[in-house]
Amino acid sequence: MRTPLIAGNWKMNGSTALIDAFGDAFAAAKLPDGVDVVVIPPFPYLEAARNAFANTPLQLGAQTLNPQHSGAHTGEVSGRMLKEFDVAYVLVGHSERRQLYRESDEEVFDRLIAALEVGMIPILCVGESLEERDAGNTMEVVLRQVGYVMARLEPVQRYQVVVAYEPVWAIGTGRTATPEQAQDVMAGIRSYQASFDKTLAEQLKLLYGGSMNANNAAELLAQPDIDGGLVGGASLKTDDFYAICQSA
Ligand code: G3P
Repeated sequence: MRTPLIAGNWKMNGSTALIDAFGDAFAAAKLPDGVDVVVIPPFPYLEAARNAFANTPLQLGAQTLNPQHSGAHTGEVSGRMLKEFDVAYVLVGHSERRQLYRESDEEVFDRLIAALEVGMIPILCVGESLEERDAGNTMEVVLRQVGYVMARLEPVQRYQVVVAYEPVWAIGTGRTATPEQAQDVMAGIRSYQASFDKTLAEQLKLLYGGSMNANNAAELLAQPDIDGGLVGGASLKTDDFYAICQSA
């Protein structure tokens, strides 16, 4: 049985006022039993979020981390630092990082290892561009991204990774993958994992991301291989995010 996980990636958005609004809304909110809910704000808000979320079920995530734990890396933040703020999850390989900051599969892997080394749960983001989908290469691209990481991990480490499938063409576009499209890719990722280990395939948590909102979440989350969501725009509004959590 896989515990559903809903994660809200605020990207470079939000404010201390929004942190407080989430703290207030979720202190009063009743979430379904056994659903993990994570808010992933920009770094400067982590301490405020840790305080504001203290009496809520909300857990904290970070949007990236440096592969190193300390050193001469001006402008960077390490996993060891994030752990001090009770950050439990961290995104690695988000398509915006891959595209805008040229993160390669190798760098994504190094960041993921750094997360595991400090005891955070990495959410490995993968997904194809529109050109890749149109060319019929969706599974090849997704399995290359997943496979690069999984093949290099120790068997036990593979159990500590969450995978988020976010088709690039669905991110921030309002164009959601259909539940069938998302399910097909999820099933492909899960059966690929079975090539390593059947138990791993059953336990691997798979999230869908890409224009998930309060209206389409229930149908996506009802798919057998979708265990949760990685939500961008709709995670910036307390009501919408709460409604998505209720669908899980
Ligand atoms: O990481 C979340 C994401 O990239 C999806 O963003 O705005 O399409 O929900 P959005």
